[in-house]
Amino acid sequence: MTKLAIRALAKRFGTFTGVTDVNLETKEGEFVSLLGPSGCGKTTTLRCVAGLENPTSGRILFDDTDVTLLGPEKRSIGMVFQNYALFPHMTVGENVGFGLMMRGIRGADAASRITSVLDMVQLSNAHDRYPRQMSGGQQQRVALARALVFEPKLLLLDEPLANLDAKLRDEMRFFIRSVQQRVGITTLYVTHDQAEAMAVSDRIVVMFGGRIHQIGDAQGVYHRPATKEVASFIGQANFFPAKLMARDGDFFVLRTALREFRARCGDPEVASAACCGALMVRPEAIRLGPVGQSAGISAIVESAHFLGNIVDYMLKLDDGTSVSAQAIGDLQYGPGTRVSLSFDESRSWFVL
Ligand SMILES: Nc1ncnc2c1ncn2[C@@H]1O[C@H](COP(=O)(O)OP(=O)(O)OP(=O)(O)O)[C@@H](O)[C@H]1O
Ligand SMILES: [Mg+2]
Repeated sequence: MTKLAIRALAKRFGTFTGVTDVNLETKEGEFVSLLGPSGCGKTTTLRCVAGLENPTSGRILFDDTDVTLLGPEKRSIGMVFQNYALFPHMTVGENVGFGLMMRGIRGADAASRITSVLDMVQLSNAHDRYPRQMSGGQQQRVALARALVFEPKLLLLDEPLANLDAKLRDEMRFFIRSVQQRVGITTLYVTHDQAEAMAVSDRIVVMFGGRIHQIGDAQGVYHRPATKEVASFIGQANFFPAKLMARDGDFFVLRTALREFRARCGDPEVASAACCGALMVRPEAIRLGPVGQSAGISAIVESAHFLGNIVDYMLKLDDGTSVSAQAIGDLQYGPGTRVSLSFDESRSWFVL
């Protein structure tokens, strides 16, 4: 199993900075996702790792070997793209075998490798079919088989599920993850779908504007976002402009237009220096109760929707601020009801 290291990677296109200061070290066999909005530099980073793009500066290492100047064909990388990129005039077996042929592996050795990789992606009976005779999900599994058949050091996937419908996407993400775990191959996976990244990754790299904002596991990036951008990209969040007043152990005392709150944050030194930011509270960390029973903040229910697993509330505070809240159970407060709202301070987070 190979470890990937990306050190101080930058790629400029003319005067435009595609990515800058990208640093990442994976573990052996780790599944790492690059997540972020369109144009944030995910594909550019992946292409630099693949050798399809020459970095402007920085280094790419596989197991401590510098591959920055190696061509893509010398890097032993399996790639899967959004559009599958299968050869339409070749059968599934020929598509999968193509990479082996290019590497001089033919005959019985090639045939047995093709059989076993098609078996792994559950397409053993599709060897002689053509891509046009297969569904999108099946074609994507052929693409995965083709990327894995020559036992590459790294598997790189760029939005591999974007062309599939929602249900198939859900199935395929777990399929890819289970194949990846069985093969034990270190994987870099590009997506702009946060649920997809959270469901399959060991760690997620969250990017904006060509820079990494945070690297962490799903719970880390959700509960402890490094920046406001990360907080709002991953899940829903309420933000209350906040000024940092004092430090209190692991917590900060924050002054907002509503009142003082206590919250934690990722980098106390940076937060102390900056002082102004926002208190982030996730919708499910907001508690609603009847007025008068608690010392909460008064709000009016603007809308309430029972969605089965949760009730989705939109509330308006007396100063006009909108707050979104989610509660488990049945709908308790209809539109127009005055409620009292409180935050769980252990789940409140200060972001810059
Ligand atoms: N060959 C190129 N020439 C000029 N600019 C480029 C080139 N390739 C990428 N860029 C720019 O670099 C930035 C990052 O592009 P990249 O393709 O890495 O984004 P992405 O995160 O993969 O986005 P998406 O989710 O839309 O695929 C974009 O602003 C893009 O327009
Ligand atoms: Mg892209």
